[in-house]
Amino acid sequence: MKVLVVGSGGREHTLVWKLTQSPRVERIYCAPGNGGISKLAECVDIGANDMEGLVRFARESGIDLTVVGPEDPLVEGIVDRFEEAGLRVFGPKKNAAILEGSKQFTKDFLTRHGIATAAYESFTDPEAAIACIRRQGAPIVVKADGLAAGKGVIVAQQVDEAVAAVEQIMRAKRFGSAGDTVVVEACLVGEEASFMAFTDGKTVVPMLSSQDHKQVLDGDRGPNTGGMGAYTPAPVIQERTAEIMDAIMVPTVRGMAEEGRPFSGVLYAGLMITGDGISVLEYNVRFGDPEAQPILFRLKSDLIDIIEAILENRLHECRIEWTKGASACVVLASGGYPGSYETGKEITGLDAVPDSDDLYVFHAGTQKSGGRIVTGGGRVLGITARGTDLASTLGKTYDAVNRIHFEGKHYRTDIGQKGLQRD
Ligand code: AMP
Ligand code: GLY
Repeated sequence: MKVLVVGSGGREHTLVWKLTQSPRVERIYCAPGNGGISKLAECVDIGANDMEGLVRFARESGIDLTVVGPEDPLVEGIVDRFEEAGLRVFGPKKNAAILEGSKQFTKDFLTRHGIATAAYESFTDPEAAIACIRRQGAPIVVKADGLAAGKGVIVAQQVDEAVAAVEQIMRAKRFGSAGDTVVVEACLVGEEASFMAFTDGKTVVPMLSSQDHKQVLDGDRGPNTGGMGAYTPAPVIQERTAEIMDAIMVPTVRGMAEEGRPFSGVLYAGLMITGDGISVLEYNVRFGDPEAQPILFRLKSDLIDIIEAILENRLHECRIEWTKGASACVVLASGGYPGSYETGKEITGLDAVPDSDDLYVFHAGTQKSGGRIVTGGGRVLGITARGTDLASTLGKTYDAVNRIHFEGKHYRTDIGQKGLQRD
């Protein structure tokens, strides 16, 4: 079959890598792809948000299946659009992707269904939001309702900072109409983890537990990023998979179906593990990036079989197998990221890290320039390894990290440390 992957990051490189291993995939395309993806797939110059361009390409090229990586097109309704055009596509429809598209919807949904989440109020009036913040005091969390490229959440340690966030989001419209509504919520204290599951709207099958590293600096310091690295399994929740499935994932999928919003695809819960229990911070309606890298690196089953089972509402028939052990991904970022950064820096040393069964360099912000690979984004590469245990896997990953160079390269040196401490 001919497959199209939509997106251009490390997650999409990993999806392409995994899909090319399926004996059922004859040709694979990626729109728009990146410098690394172009080694495995034919990259087509159509943006991930260009819905009509993607539909046209899929039709004209006889694409049998489209897999959507990022959230924006899902929230905008790319799945509905493809289905209207008679094209097969993997991901939730627009009315289910609202779980990521609107924080207010999600908070109200969680409350309706008795699923644990931080206490909150939502506001369309900035004065009322500010009054709530002054009443509650700090620390407090301010969230833009809509998509804001991962920048719409401010965990404020001071009241002034939270007030400034409301001003930025609601009055200065920093994220446009995504900030018409804000959610103000209690600040939870604990350890975060990522929990993803495959679902066809009825059956829910957990993936491996994982943990992202959102802040740019070691020790979870500095500003938030898209994610600086991830590993599997995450001991903080690994033993609690049944509890998370029973209290969070299954009721969410059931609740969405009951509300006439059947969810099909990958459901990702961002969790906070507190002394009082496990709370949902957010939902994503797609694979996490970088979590997809270490998770899919351990997926033994054919991803096409899983996707088809989901599309045909028979996920209950599917047995999903994972390799034993652990995996990790360390992100190499451009100097300055998550602030402004330069691109076009030559990446050297890639030849010193040959692709193998247990080590792979997934590209995110890279592009081809002549015969060279150069930086083209904030998160540049995701060095990913798997092994029998987390300590040796991390050793292998960082050994490769040290062999790859570009001007301004920076990365966290403590990916997986929380896991090692709990092991
Ligand atoms: P979200 O996009 O909702 O996951 O928020 C981004 C990040 O903000 C999360 O990964 C957490 O680190 C942090 N965060 C969000 N909500 C809360 C909360 N209620 N308490 C503490 N931290 C939070
Ligand atoms: N790693 C967090 C995300 O994909 O949103």
